[in-house]
Amino acid sequence: MTTDTAGRQFWDAAADRFDDEPDHGLRDPRVRDAWAIRLRSWLPDQPSDVLDLGCGTGSLALLAATDGHRVTAVDLSEQMVARARAKLADTGARVVVGDAARPPVGARRFDVVLVRHVLWMLPDPAAVLRHWTRLLRPGGRLVLIEGRWGAVSPVGITADTLARLTAGLGGSTVIHQLGSDPALWGREVADERYAAVVRPAPPRRHTEIVDVHLVLLRGRDVLLARRAGTGYADGLLHVPSGHLEDGEDVRAGMIREAGEEIGVDLAPHELEAAVVMQHRSPDGRPRIGWFFTGRLAAGAEPVNREPDKCSGLGWYPLDDLPHDMVAYCRAGLDAYRAGVPFLTHLHESGDRIAFDPDGPDRAVPLAAPVVPGSPI
Ligand SMILES: C[S@@+](CC[C@H](N)C(=O)[O-])C[C@H]1O[C@@H](n2cnc3c(N)ncnc32)[C@H](O)[C@@H]1O
Repeated sequence: MTTDTAGRQFWDAAADRFDDEPDHGLRDPRVRDAWAIRLRSWLPDQPSDVLDLGCGTGSLALLAATDGHRVTAVDLSEQMVARARAKLADTGARVVVGDAARPPVGARRFDVVLVRHVLWMLPDPAAVLRHWTRLLRPGGRLVLIEGRWGAVSPVGITADTLARLTAGLGGSTVIHQLGSDPALWGREVADERYAAVVRPAPPRRHTEIVDVHLVLLRGRDVLLARRAGTGYADGLLHVPSGHLEDGEDVRAGMIREAGEEIGVDLAPHELEAAVVMQHRSPDGRPRIGWFFTGRLAAGAEPVNREPDKCSGLGWYPLDDLPHDMVAYCRAGLDAYRAGVPFLTHLHESGDRIAFDPDGPDRAVPLAAPVVPGSPI
């Protein structure tokens, strides 16, 4: 179920009878106590900021608020929100309409993101979990109560699948099986029900490799090198390129790589920054790629200085580039020809490394600002 109108209408229509289920309304004191005890064991001991996403009529949020936690609750259904507001009146809880996948709250404001019976409905749960992690303060936790319901056409998410998803967050995941405790459900149940308490690894500062690429021009031709024996993109054409070394500036790195790979000596003033691109290698790691143009001095000729990595060099028309190129490199040259200085080109799993004219176009140009007062 998503934020689309059908989803909203479905839950609006369900709101009136929602609390009739024992574990929804928690009207039976035995069921309510069973949830209160469990919830207390999953939440911090001290009063904390708890975000309840897809809060429904607010039954769990009320338990948390009653224990002294500061609760914010979000649901896409206005009917659910109206009931949750009534239930949580006088607790100080804030209840808002919003999408659980992208709730209208700030980052790093919560000690707990609490979600019961909602994650399984959301498209792209891996991305949703990553987003929820960003809402947590350092040391925070996700409390995810989920299950897989029904025997014939079961719906939901198994604990194994959820644990695989949360493994991507680093940190730890502890699964508490809940199906064997009838007090929680007001009856015996046979399907899988559980809570996952996830303590994601603290966020690390994002780092990226920087690589430099030489668009070496002779008239309207560009020099391309055919990769060989490297284990990445072998057989495909690429511009001379390499990684920056620690502490190196991008021009120095470009000059070093040009010398090492093709024996061309370039001076800093001969390099022009043409394109900057965030790209992603097939192993999923992002990189920042700088593309510099350069021209050969009269009489100079590039030589293949790394025959163990390159089977040959050749000049190719910039306006009619070959297809057997590394896709992001081709995108960089296309951007240069089009006068696009900034773009992203993020390889997705399943994409070919080679340029694929029939495949998805991953090049996303980023608009450069028009400087106020400039003649353009
Ligand atoms: C099965 S109920 C669970 C309610 C509550 N978490 C509980 O355990 O009592 C699912 C709730 O999620 C809400 N919901 C569904 N999709 C949502 C979304 N994309 N964003 C926010 N709420 C959503 C529904 O309106 C409904 O209130």
